[in-house]
Amino acid sequence: MMNINKEIDQWNKQLANSSAEEIIAFFTSKFSDKISLSSSLGLEDQVLTEIVSRISPATEIFTLDTGRLFPETYDLIDLTSKKYKKAIKIYFPDSKEVEEMVAEKGINLFYDSIENRKLCCGIRKIQPLKRALKGLDAWITGLRREQSVTRTNLNIVEWDEANQLLKVNPLINWTEEDVWDYIEKKNVPYNKLHKQGFASIGCQPCTRAIEDGEDVRAGRWWWENPETKECGLHVK
Ligand code: ADX
Ligand code: SF4
Repeated sequence: MMNINKEIDQWNKQLANSSAEEIIAFFTSKFSDKISLSSSLGLEDQVLTEIVSRISPATEIFTLDTGRLFPETYDLIDLTSKKYKKAIKIYFPDSKEVEEMVAEKGINLFYDSIENRKLCCGIRKIQPLKRALKGLDAWITGLRREQSVTRTNLNIVEWDEANQLLKVNPLINWTEEDVWDYIEKKNVPYNKLHKQGFASIGCQPCTRAIEDGEDVRAGRWWWENPETKECGLHVK
């Protein structure tokens, strides 16, 4: 991994004008079974699932089931797996850790402090993510620059220091409109909540619908400041 930064710079230059499909084709052929797509079943991830299952059907697609997702998200997991004939691998949190946390701090601990919220995300998302990424060289995510103040500096490919592998973001330059156009053109299934005012969808207790003109991620952990609103899956 000595020259990884140089290699990353070069890939970013080389792929600067490539389509999402070309970026995915490049990295899935390079890393074969050492790269997976991480899907929250969000709109971006549904676009990526359509592409991955079509051009690289052997690539693993996984999701982190925190135990607090919306019923609509579970329905979409099922529908998507069937439509693309592709099992979505589901990772669950450690039951003992969840039981201890909830016994000590309550079932809805996340509303009480940022510390509690991070503890819950840590146990329900970050630990399972670490298991999902174990042994991989790279993971693919649906991050876009436009999504948030914490995401404006993203690159197509970058070194994920926290998890010690490459992170590939094929949709970084897509706008929300690009995403919807693709979903409609290709008839990609999406979460029904998007038509009820929900933009970015995570866990049910930590996600609300947004008003017209609000930022797409305004409905995530809405009681916190924009700068703290990363669950730790994508820290720098
Ligand atoms: S989060 O950090 O606020 O939760 P967001 O919902 O914007 O992230 O999703 C960004 C990317 O992180 C997704 O495109 C997906 O690749 C990954 N991701 C987020 N949540 C999950 C999840 N529950 N399971 C798998 N991947 C996820
Ligand atoms: Fe827990 Fe909310 Fe984080 Fe989900 S988003 S893991 S419910 S704190």
